[in-house]
Amino acid sequence: MKIIDLRSDTVTKPSAAMKRAMFSAPLGDDVFGDDPTVNRLQAETARLLGKQAGLFVPSGTMGNQIALKTMTNPGDEVILDHESHIFRYEVAGAAVMSGLQFHTITGPGGIMPAEQVKNAIRPDDIHQPQTTLVCLENTHNRAGGVVYSLAEIKKISALCKKHKIKMHLDGARLWNASVASGVSLKEYSKYFDSVMVCFSKGLGCPAGSVLAGSSDFIEKARRHRKMMGGGMRQAGILAGAGLYALKHNLKRMAEDHKRAQTLARTISQIPKIQIDLDSVQTNIVVFDIKQTGMRSEQAMEILAGKGLWLVSFGPTRLRAVTHLDVDDKDIETAGAIMREIFGGRNK
Ligand SMILES: Cc1ncc(COP(=O)(O)O)c(C=O)c1O
Repeated sequence: MKIIDLRSDTVTKPSAAMKRAMFSAPLGDDVFGDDPTVNRLQAETARLLGKQAGLFVPSGTMGNQIALKTMTNPGDEVILDHESHIFRYEVAGAAVMSGLQFHTITGPGGIMPAEQVKNAIRPDDIHQPQTTLVCLENTHNRAGGVVYSLAEIKKISALCKKHKIKMHLDGARLWNASVASGVSLKEYSKYFDSVMVCFSKGLGCPAGSVLAGSSDFIEKARRHRKMMGGGMRQAGILAGAGLYALKHNLKRMAEDHKRAQTLARTISQIPKIQIDLDSVQTNIVVFDIKQTGMRSEQAMEILAGKGLWLVSFGPTRLRAVTHLDVDDKDIETAGAIMREIFGGRNK
């Protein structure tokens, strides 16, 4: 049985051409700073994001955690959305490794209104922690891949400047935000002190992220990368995939977005499924199956029995993600399987 794997855009396997680029990449020891391919990827990513320097790290999680550690002191408070990856999925790393406290905001659709951020900033009071960092996520994964509005980013940035608070962007899928909105990576990034982007998601690489910021920030971040065990040696074999992906896999993300739209429209025709079509802005489709009477785990098992893999996003919520390794036919088949399982007559 053919498996259509829509669990995540991280499931892609490097193409033959990407593997050739990896195998032919010039290598060195990156802990000594002399892997030419890593250096090229860091410089190229920093250039795209309009930052002075970049640092290649094994994962998005490590990139985020290094940023938090580099820009805060233990006991500080960080403002972020309650559905953000840093809050939900990083194993409380910020508490363990950086001694941080989180102040979460329940923003609608993952977007934190500037007004709520303003109210969350601690006053200058010896009883309270100091707010030193605000983190945003663009696109926002759990909100369904929604793109952050530039207007809101600007408002939050003005607020943070006023209060001397730094800003970090979890841009695991910033590529998707830029392709979908037409806003450049540089424009999105310029409001942030640090930006983390992933190569192992929509860009189709096997591993790797880059953390970008000022030269001074990256120098400190390099020390924290070593501390966390992220100093890799001939890492150019991975960075080579990143350089290949920037050239060949970035613009084509529009195809993933189109397929997510097609899938979302099909799902919206199934009477017992709730989906907010406005939230489908990039490659992620999140929907609710409550009215079918099924729970996510049960539905996932039944769908898997038909060859369709999704992930649970809550007791009755499921997520499907389009990516490089699925085509139009797969999306058609995925829609047909869902119609069959969840009851297909048109609304
Ligand atoms: C928004 C977001 N940030 C960070 C990460 C972490 O990336 P990694 O899995 O490479 O640690 C993910 C992973 O899915 C993500 O969706």
